[in-house]
Amino acid sequence: MSRVVVLISGRGSNMQALVENGIPVVAVISNRPEAKGLAFAASRGIPTAVVDHKSHPDRESFDRALVEAVNRHNPTLVVLAGFMRVLTAVFVGAFAGRMINIHPSLLPSFTGLDTHRRAIEAGAKIHGCTVHFVTEALDHGPVIAQAAVPVRDDDTEDALAARVLLQEHRILPAAIRWFLDGRLHVNGLRVSLVEAGVNDNALRVPDPL
Ligand code: GAR
Repeated sequence: MSRVVVLISGRGSNMQALVENGIPVVAVISNRPEAKGLAFAASRGIPTAVVDHKSHPDRESFDRALVEAVNRHNPTLVVLAGFMRVLTAVFVGAFAGRMINIHPSLLPSFTGLDTHRRAIEAGAKIHGCTVHFVTEALDHGPVIAQAAVPVRDDDTEDALAARVLLQEHRILPAAIRWFLDGRLHVNGLRVSLVEAGVNDNALRVPDPL
């Protein structure tokens, strides 16, 4: 039986999409006690925990505590779903090859924060989201799936973020399912899907919204 541990920092809508799509989420852990997503997880009977980064003197000691909290749930896969902490080698090394992240841009464009505002300011016509394996290079791990959305002439940061979020909720459960089914083949930065069928396009370009 697969076991998925999800790390969140706030709202938790991606984590909610996982639960609602039948992903076997066995625990939800947050670095912020006030993270809204914790209440949703608890309401579904999913164990929750908080490892508050403010109670740790440095990144390494926080990461060590987080490794312990995650390992208590014996995960097959660790998912960063809106987890807003930069992780050190202590954490990344503990779950190498079995940790993925959802990032709100078409990587390798717009790593880091404020991706929607920066995409609009840069004049991008296409924006989107990426699911990738987590490596020590921030936002640079092997890409599993991406979805694209148009950037409209009159777009605001919030409108674009909402359009991207809908796609995050589609590609994150799909990518996790592929991982749990053992269908991802990683070669350097390239990830291919074993036995891809017509419904398995790793690049998803939705109808204009
Ligand atoms: C999502 O848009 C996710 O892609 C982003 O935070 C949001 C969390 O929303 N993650 C990052 O920016 C990671 N660097 P959610 O809590 O509702 O899932």
